[in-house]
Amino acid sequence: MINLVIFGPPGAGKGTQATNLAKAYQLIHLSTGEILRDEIAEGTETGLIAKEIIDRGELVPDDLVIELIRHQLDNNPLAKGFLFDGFPRTLPQAEALDNLLVHYGRSVSAMLSLEVEKEQLLARLINRGNSSGRSDDANRSVIENRIEVYNQKTAPLISYYSKVGKYERINGIGTVQEITDRLKAIIERLPLNKRSH
Ligand code: AP5
Ligand code: MG
Repeated sequence: MINLVIFGPPGAGKGTQATNLAKAYQLIHLSTGEILRDEIAEGTETGLIAKEIIDRGELVPDDLVIELIRHQLDNNPLAKGFLFDGFPRTLPQAEALDNLLVHYGRSVSAMLSLEVEKEQLLARLINRGNSSGRSDDANRSVIENRIEVYNQKTAPLISYYSKVGKYERINGIGTVQEITDRLKAIIERLPLNKRSH
């Protein structure tokens, strides 16, 4: 049983790598960003709250995203494991995830942190903005704000996971395959078949 957090700033490659890893290890890929964009597309109450916040590049309230994750865990009791992408993003979210997983007899096995410098993040997201249709990729100041919000509110989680020996740092520059291989090398040496605490 393995539960991974894929971590890093906007544009670090979390979604790209999560797709590859979920397939390789039969994990359920939970991207809070994707779930929120689906809620917006469906015009749900959550989507209505989230839209304006996402458009500014700010963070959606903790209780709302925690509820989305709780719902996904409830709906997948037989999952081999989960791959959390873009969650947690704040200390209360990290604590909530730990508590939720305890409830299911699970725990975070590792936090895989993709490291990419700001200029490269900006280049990737500005480029993606030409075709993604994502409102938060559409202008440079929103992209810069997302990176700033990451630095202020999300990067401190590195110390949260570091303290319990679960922080794994990965160079996020290279081809997609090279980075997948780096991630797999780390995952292969985790204690996959027992609960890690
Ligand atoms: P979210 O959807 O999580 O977006 P993000 O963190 O800003 O990151 P991205 O999805 O843009 O980047 P990524 O790291 O997944 O990289 P990707 O693989 O796409 O969140 C969006 C918003 O939702 C937040 O701002 C917030 O408002 C809200 N939200 C979500 N979760 C929340 C939470 N937990 N709490 C509160 N609010 C929340 O790659 C990026 C680009 O680079 C792509 O074009 C890709 O093709 C390219 N690329 C990937 N790998 C490489 C490579 N190796 N070399 C070159 N290019 C590459
Ligand atoms: Mg993503």
